[in-house]
Amino acid sequence: MAAIRILTGSVYGGALMSARKIKEELEVEGHKVVVLENPELVDITDNDDALLVCTSTTGEGEVPPNLLPLYVDLKDQLPQQPGRPFGIIVLGDSSYGDTFCGAGDLMEEVLFETAARKVGDTLKIDALETLEPEAEAAPWAKTWAAGL
Ligand SMILES: Cc1cc2nc3c(=O)[nH]c(=O)nc-3n(C[C@H](O)[C@H](O)[C@H](O)COP(=O)(O)O)c2cc1C
Repeated sequence: MAAIRILTGSVYGGALMSARKIKEELEVEGHKVVVLENPELVDITDNDDALLVCTSTTGEGEVPPNLLPLYVDLKDQLPQQPGRPFGIIVLGDSSYGDTFCGAGDLMEEVLFETAARKVGDTLKIDALETLEPEAEAAPWAKTWAAGL
């Protein structure tokens, strides 16, 4: 069983609801899960839990305001996390074209710069195709957690 920290980024609540649903379902399976609604750098540097990013995309392919401070600190300080497992769930809307799910790419890039290790492929959830992101996110997260 794994200890998992979910780093949420959300404007309208879809990604946050998804993170809460994931916590519920993974805890049933015996994992220990913390949902961070306003994640800070210390929330990841004071432990070595697996990291699950669950964020939406805002602006033009940007990270939501509640996740931005962590993103900026990671980018500026690059605290090295060699081999630390992470996964990415990103919500977006394909009508935004080139910036579709851009926040997930930004988080992936910065986590790679810390030498963390990606587990599984990014799950991209398209608002044009689903109104219930948690229904896609939770089963994906179970498979992801099983691969840790
Ligand atoms: C102002 C605004 C800007 C957005 N920009 C993007 C974008 O650049 N790329 C993208 O894929 N989705 C974009 N979206 C779509 C959201 O990411 C999508 O609706 C998501 O499901 C919202 O999740 P949330 O409820 O957690 O905020 C944008 C939505 C809004 C309202």
